[in-house]
Amino acid sequence: MKVILASNKAAGDQAAFNVFQQVIENGAKVLGLATGSTPEGLYKLLRESDLDFSAMTSVNLDEYVGIAPDNPQSYHYFMQKHLFDAKPFAHSYLPNGLADDPDAEVKRYDQVVADHPVDLQLLGIGRDGHIGFNEPGSPFDGGTHRVKLTQSTIEANSRFFASEDDVPKEAYTMGIGTILKSKEILLMAYGDKKAAAVQKMIEGPVTTDVAASALKKAANVVVILDPAAAAKLQPSSITERI
Ligand code: GLP
Repeated sequence: MKVILASNKAAGDQAAFNVFQQVIENGAKVLGLATGSTPEGLYKLLRESDLDFSAMTSVNLDEYVGIAPDNPQSYHYFMQKHLFDAKPFAHSYLPNGLADDPDAEVKRYDQVVADHPVDLQLLGIGRDGHIGFNEPGSPFDGGTHRVKLTQSTIEANSRFFASEDDVPKEAYTMGIGTILKSKEILLMAYGDKKAAAVQKMIEGPVTTDVAASALKKAANVVVILDPAAAAKLQPSSITERI
């Protein structure tokens, strides 16, 4: 795990952009994408760049259950607004939050990922250490599944909704097993609310209590942090400062 400490968010976004640019130059065909406030700066750099995704495929991590793609709170809508409107891919896949048959939807999405092996998977991290929507206790070999969100995640994500009651209580997410199959993984974390989860991911034991600790089992992982997110780390845990 390579841990890059950026002097601020702008430097972190630029470092993340450089990782994307490099894998694309190296011939990547499939990008695994994430939502949340953390990657917004990276998506802005991608939108404003001359990178061309029109021959590539994107596969997103997750989607809320029960909200339509044109709902501004949906992850479909987020991706459209932050990236796809400006930079369309040949094909873009997300779980279908309105699927009638959850078992069929889980199988469909696992097949999507099997058919499009991810070259670079972008991740954020939840305050409880979740990746995608893999909450504490998720098995490290799991595929796509429907999950009940923890109270911590519902509270954290309520800032995007009119009230906490409006936050969907369930989601579809790629499993940790799915994420670990990516050839390369880039996790970004900013702000003091992520510091404890980041410390556990990097310096704690590999345990299903902290979903992100599974990344220590993957070969090519880059973590980009700002000083607030890195505040609880030992200096020796930092690979590079930019
Ligand atoms: C949600 C998403 C995650 C994301 C996390 C952190 O729970 N499912 O993929 O990493 O939020 O979001 P933020 O970047 O807004 O802190």
